This record gives sequence, C-alpha cells and structure tokens, in this order.
Amino acid sequence: MSTALSETSTSGALYQQAIATLQRLLGEAAASGDPEPTAMNLASIDAAGRLSSRVVLLKGVDGNGLRFFSNYESAKAVQLALHPQAALSFHWKTLREQVQARFEGRINKLADVDSDAYFATRPRMSQIGAWASLQSQPLPSREVFDARVDQFEKRFADMAVPRPPHWGGYVLLPDLVEFWYGARYRLHERVRYQLHNGTWSTELLYP
Ligand SMILES: Cc1cc2nc3c(=O)[nH]c(=O)nc-3n(C[C@H](O)[C@H](O)[C@H](O)COP(=O)(O)O)c2cc1C
Repeated sequence: MSTALSETSTSGALYQQAIATLQRLLGEAAASGDPEPTAMNLASIDAAGRLSSRVVLLKGVDGNGLRFFSNYESAKAVQLALHPQAALSFHWKTLREQVQARFEGRINKLADVDSDAYFATRPRMSQIGAWASLQSQPLPSREVFDARVDQFEKRFADMAVPRPPHWGGYVLLPDLVEFWYGARYRLHERVRYQLHNGTWSTELLYP
C-alpha cells in the first residue's frame, strides 16, 4: 500500500513523521545501551564514479536535514563538492531486534555561523585537532602530527580556538528515508518514505 499526500519537501506531514521517527529511534538506541547511537555510515562518490564510505557522527537532525561535521579538504569533502549527493545509514544493534535507518539526498554545506556555533561547543583538544589534522592526507609519522598539535596549542594559548576555515558542517536533506525493523525468522519490516515531484509518499517494502 502506498500513501501519498499532497505535500512538499520539508513541510510535509510524512517528512516530519520520518524525521520524528529518527529522533525517537536515536533516543531509544541510546537508552538500549548503544555506545555510539549517532554513528552513521556516509557513502559518497568520486569523480570517476567510485564509491567510498566511512563513519561520521550525526550532530543534529530536524526539518532542515541531518547534520555532520568534517574537514572541508578531506577525501569525502572533495567527493561531496563534485557530487553533492550522499547516503547515510545507521545500524543499532542493541535496539529491539536491530534497526537500520537509511537516508539519501542532497548535501549542502552548513552556514558558517552554524559551524562556528557547533565548533565552539567542542572540547578544546578537539578544536586543536581540527587545526592539526590534514584529514585524508598522507602522514609521514605520528611525530609529525604530534608536532602540529603542539604548534597549534602554542598558537592558540590563552585564547579561544577559532574554527579553522577548512572545517565545518554538512547537512543532508533527504529525498529518501527507510526504516528497517528486524523481526524473527527474517520477517523484517521495511518502511520507505520517498519524495517524488515535490510530494512525499510512504510504502512498505518486502524485506
Ligand atoms: C565512530 C566514528 C566516528 C567518526 N566521526 C567522524 C566525524 O564526525 N567526522 C569526520 O570527519 N570523521 C569522523 N570519523 C572518521 C571517518 O570515519 C574517516 O576516517 C575520516 O572522516 C576520513 O574520511 P575520508 O578520508 O573519506 O574523508 C569517525 C570515525 C568513527 C569510527
């Protein structure tokens, strides 16, 4: 059965329902003992069409999308600049009979002011690390990294650490959402929400 309502992108009731479901599952996953409930796989694609994926942490979700933070010069950043499209997936092993949530859609950079606000909440050493790490570039030795950490600790001694220009947030605005609820005998439940021509619809899928 497919349910289609006349609604658009982020304002629709079905979209809000999908976001609310994610927010509820994150809370339930934390309560179920998941040590890292916001960890999600981020898949992106390079210029040659080659896929890669890695884990990042969700740092916020609301009607505007799913937010995460990274180095704007990393391998993923180069890919996301070329193909501002990504897939995110969560897997909560301790939640119910296991639950998976998937989100696909368009990627935008977060506004600088929002990246600044989040950066300011990070522990000081994480802020120093954001300056010191040339994420995804070859590192000649651990000592080189340690020396860079020392260098930035000295540079920002006795002052608040500003956000590096090469570090900030992304937001994925989904056009496809799926929740997979594990069940006994592999009789899992899959619920998909999809945006087509400005209208969200939802349907069940065979597991
Ligand atoms: C649990 C966990 C959380 C992580 N969180 C982040 C994150 O929020 N942002 C980030 O840039 N990298 C994070 N990483 C590191 C990434 O997985 C990855 O190694 C790094 O971003 C470089 O990826 P890239 O070379 O594809 O750009 C995390 C790794 C793990 C295992």
